[in-house]
Amino acid sequence: MKIKESKFVTSAVKEEQYPESDLPEIAMVGRSNVGKSSLINMMLNRKNLARTSSTPGKTQLINFFDIDGKFTLVDLPGYGYARVSKEQKKTWGTIIETYLKNRKNLLEVILLVDLRHKPTQEDIEMYQWIKSYGFNGIVVGTKHDKIKKSQLDKHKKIIRDAFGMDQNDFLLVSSTQSRKGKYEIWDAFNELFEVNGYDVHFERQQEKEDI
Ligand code: GTP
Ligand code: MG
Repeated sequence: MKIKESKFVTSAVKEEQYPESDLPEIAMVGRSNVGKSSLINMMLNRKNLARTSSTPGKTQLINFFDIDGKFTLVDLPGYGYARVSKEQKKTWGTIIETYLKNRKNLLEVILLVDLRHKPTQEDIEMYQWIKSYGFNGIVVGTKHDKIKKSQLDKHKKIIRDAFGMDQNDFLLVSSTQSRKGKYEIWDAFNELFEVNGYDVHFERQQEKEDI
């Protein structure tokens, strides 16, 4: 099937504001400015469905996006943004944690890290947390266009080592500039649906079929 319609459902902070849904859900987490909202737009062939900004801290609420009534993509606020108060950091931390802990239909968590940088302590804690809750934890290294091709393996190794990933752990690479990673991430989504018994499979979509 091809994506016919992806749409914004709602924003939420508290649990009672989450949309009621039995559909499988996939959430994007990562540091502020790592490219979560941009990746969602790339996956869905949309320019600005998920709001992006070069200023960190753009996404401050949990945003839910419905994909053809088949599954929900969730854009979470970023953590690690230095220029906010301690209070605000705590609030965002609670928003993210509450969602990840309590969302029953959450199928998988995609952890984004900037390919250029060594994962931070918060990234490492997030990865361990994802694993400890029984998710596979697919890692996506973003902004591939910002590093030299010859440096890719080195940067991937730094991330793998920092997280203590083994061969079975996924580390994908993405770029919203070259649109790299789009198909691989869709493949990973399709596999997730399949192994979890959902009859959902999205075809690789050509860019010219953009919606
Ligand atoms: P918060 O909402 O603050 O948590 O940030 P976010 O993780 O949603 O990041 P966002 O998608 O808003 O992107 C942050 C900045 O990085 C924007 O200026 C994007 O254009 C840029 N960006 C995102 N992905 C890429 C990429 O693959 N390559 C390059 N060069 N820039 C990117
Ligand atoms: Mg965002």
